[in-house]
Amino acid sequence: MIHSGPFTRLCGTGGYVPDAVVTNHDFAARLDTSDAWIRERTGIRERRVMAAGEVTSDMVAAAAREALAAAELAAADIDCLVVATTTPDMPMPSCAAVAQAKLGLSCPAFDVNAACAGFNYGLAVVDGFIRGGVFSRVLLVGADALSRFVDPDDRSTAVLFGDGAGAVVAIAESPRPEGPPRGILASRICADGTFAGSLSIPGGGAAHPPRAAGDDQALQMNGRVVFSHAVKNLAEVSAAVLDAAGMSVADVDVIVPHQANLRILDALAQRLRIDTSKFVVNLDRLGNTSAASIPLALDQGVRSGQISAGNTVLMCSIGAGFTWGAAVARW
Ligand code: UT7
Repeated sequence: MIHSGPFTRLCGTGGYVPDAVVTNHDFAARLDTSDAWIRERTGIRERRVMAAGEVTSDMVAAAAREALAAAELAAADIDCLVVATTTPDMPMPSCAAVAQAKLGLSCPAFDVNAACAGFNYGLAVVDGFIRGGVFSRVLLVGADALSRFVDPDDRSTAVLFGDGAGAVVAIAESPRPEGPPRGILASRICADGTFAGSLSIPGGGAAHPPRAAGDDQALQMNGRVVFSHAVKNLAEVSAAVLDAAGMSVADVDVIVPHQANLRILDALAQRLRIDTSKFVVNLDRLGNTSAASIPLALDQGVRSGQISAGNTVLMCSIGAGFTWGAAVARW
């Protein structure tokens, strides 16, 4: 059953990707891979990578400024900044704290680490704050720079990831006397840490501190295990969140999924019995941007008109942990 409000309405979106484009041909020129393999197995054609000297908090600030402008709000209007990221500028302080200063905010700021599911986790946290009356205007940014954490010579991971940031402004809105409520209708987050070893950056933390981490500092992944769990878990959590909102797949106008592999999206569409034309896709041009992929796709959908007022939007993601989640919103 849907709660009685206030609802968390997403009222402004923004996105930032670095200028530098790395194509499949660039990889094929120096690794044992090909444009055909990468396109056929993943759907990716190119991705963006941060410039030397650029850091994750720079991308957060750029995406956040765009979202604030779209929401017609100023920095002083924001009560809290939440950044979903696994690739902060440094282990401490948080990426959100660094970005807070760059944005000229004076509100609380903290990171959420749920890898590629970070945006859904951040959304669940923000929705809890807003529904509980703690904050009424929250900036939520998903940002990742996995190009800095892959082994550039490992063809099985280097070709998959790109850098970027996407932002949304979430505001409290009372249920309207006329018409159905707008905003987040239901949200679910899940985790199963027994798969921690299937996708990880083992070095750089307390287990393998940076000075001793060596090769452990690069991302490692068992792609097949992640793939099969991605399809199953995304389908299950999407069905569960729709059920919680009193809806079915037929009610969904637009799906904004985490973008890891086009074949995962095709399999998800088959399981949910939904047409792939309802998906917002950025994977072909941006690769897997981890916590940024959903908010970047939201921004693309809003600016292109694929998402418009009144649409029912399903957002779902899965990442390292495993962590996964879904949310359904009326735009
Ligand atoms: O964001 C959430 C986390 N990530 C994901 O959701 C990713 C999920 N997994 C996947 O997207 C896919 O599993 C991959 C794209 C990572 C790999 O595709 P796959 O069809 O599962 O390939 P595979 O790992 O089973 O490897 C098949 C072959 C292997 O060669 P052999 O052992 O059969 O000789 C790999 O070494 O493809 C080889 N391979 C490549 N060949 C050319 C792996 N990467 C490449 C490459 N170019 N870039």
